[in-house]
Amino acid sequence: MDTSIWRKKPMSAYEADMKNSQLKRVLGKWSLTAIGIGAIIGGGIFVLTGTAAHYHAGPALALSFVVAGIGCIFAALCYAEFAALLPVEGSAYAYAYGTIGEFFAWIIGWGLILEYAMGAMTVAVSWSGYFNKLLHLFGVEIPYYLRNDPFSASSYAEANGLAHVGWGINLPAFLVTWLVTYILVKGIKEAASANNIIVILKVAAILFVIIVGATAVMPANWEPFIPEPTMVEHTGGEMKEAYGWKGIFSGAAAIFFAYIGFDAVSTQAGEAINPRKDMPFAIITSLLLCTVLYVLVSLVLTGMINYKEITGDALKAPVAFAFDKAGMPWAVFIITAAATAGLISVMLVMMLGQTRVFLGMAKDGLLPKFFSEVHPTFRTPWKSTILVGTLVSVIAAFTPIGVLSDMTSFGTLFAFAMVCLAVLLLRQREPNMERSFKAPALYLVAPLGIITNVGLILLLDGLAQKLAMGWLVVGLVVYFLYSRNASNLNK
Ligand code: ALA
Repeated sequence: MDTSIWRKKPMSAYEADMKNSQLKRVLGKWSLTAIGIGAIIGGGIFVLTGTAAHYHAGPALALSFVVAGIGCIFAALCYAEFAALLPVEGSAYAYAYGTIGEFFAWIIGWGLILEYAMGAMTVAVSWSGYFNKLLHLFGVEIPYYLRNDPFSASSYAEANGLAHVGWGINLPAFLVTWLVTYILVKGIKEAASANNIIVILKVAAILFVIIVGATAVMPANWEPFIPEPTMVEHTGGEMKEAYGWKGIFSGAAAIFFAYIGFDAVSTQAGEAINPRKDMPFAIITSLLLCTVLYVLVSLVLTGMINYKEITGDALKAPVAFAFDKAGMPWAVFIITAAATAGLISVMLVMMLGQTRVFLGMAKDGLLPKFFSEVHPTFRTPWKSTILVGTLVSVIAAFTPIGVLSDMTSFGTLFAFAMVCLAVLLLRQREPNMERSFKAPALYLVAPLGIITNVGLILLLDGLAQKLAMGWLVVGLVVYFLYSRNASNLNK
């Protein structure tokens, strides 16, 4: 028996997994593409654009989106090759298990928890923010202690001179998580249908921003397109260098969160009708489509308002601010409503992805059987879905998690870099395996993917980097105390 931490899952075991999958194969090519778009377009494009334009890139924000998009394309091509080769649930985790080895696969799976579960938590908190804004537009206000976690509620009371009730719960974040959990337990078809409707709404909203916003563009705002490097004051009075080419790259890290999600398609292999052909198509199509939309939105935004004007509250909702300033305050309603609906599908796909990664890890014995129990009627991993729903809802309701979106980016970039490495290794080791999709110029694409994604990790917020590293260390402990001994490869 091989007890090395580098032992690999044999290809025959993947084939057996594919044959014995209890999940329902109902997802076609366009449903898979909609899953990608459902996860990609969310709060990122409506919020992070302001910070990235003001503090990093100026009008060259569009180039930041191109840089981050290119980093994602490298990763997407590698994901696509793998998804066609090993169409099993588990995504990057599963790919690494067959190529690099168990220990690496485990760490990637553990890192994916940052992307999917933690991503769902941060998105639940943003959703609550948009939902409250939408209610506000209708003149309805939820008491501050029912829409903020205890820490944020206390700061809110202090900042607004209110007598603090002493507790707080982000009730909208809690409830929306349970709505999503319910849909996910009910069935993959139900989840895909809900996702399809939301995707149509949010793509329509993005097209609205591009087309209507274009009529209010003042080309003078784009000049100079790449401003000279300058020191800019951040909140707290700290001065940091911005703009120039460096600003374009740090801007790319700042908006990376907006791209997260296309890889979630690869967790759906077990539910795809024709995974070998349709998964590569869906991964690449959803990413390319969103890249084009994002570049256009950022051009319109920086053309409608001068990046120097995006300060204070405008940083929280830059797109809405731009329309307000252009004399179209009604557009704020459309954008807020679209973001409120749109974020539900981001949560849906993130939580879906998390349960499918857990399912893959549990099937291999690295997590307890609980995570791989499939409901006899709904054919979904219902116990794991309810557990993920409980964790996401409780943490989103009671902790100030919203500030940690960079940890989600860390987990994602880490997985991207590893997938690029794994696909390269497998091409070398098993050049003759049947590949229904081959990443073009892999010997260039994969190393560039590794460099760009690791580079973006280094540009993330320092606290998020430390916390994410801490999370990976916890993963090491769990591996050596539990998973290594429980692995199916011991049997
Ligand atoms: N890409 C997703 C968003 O921007 C996570 O909300």
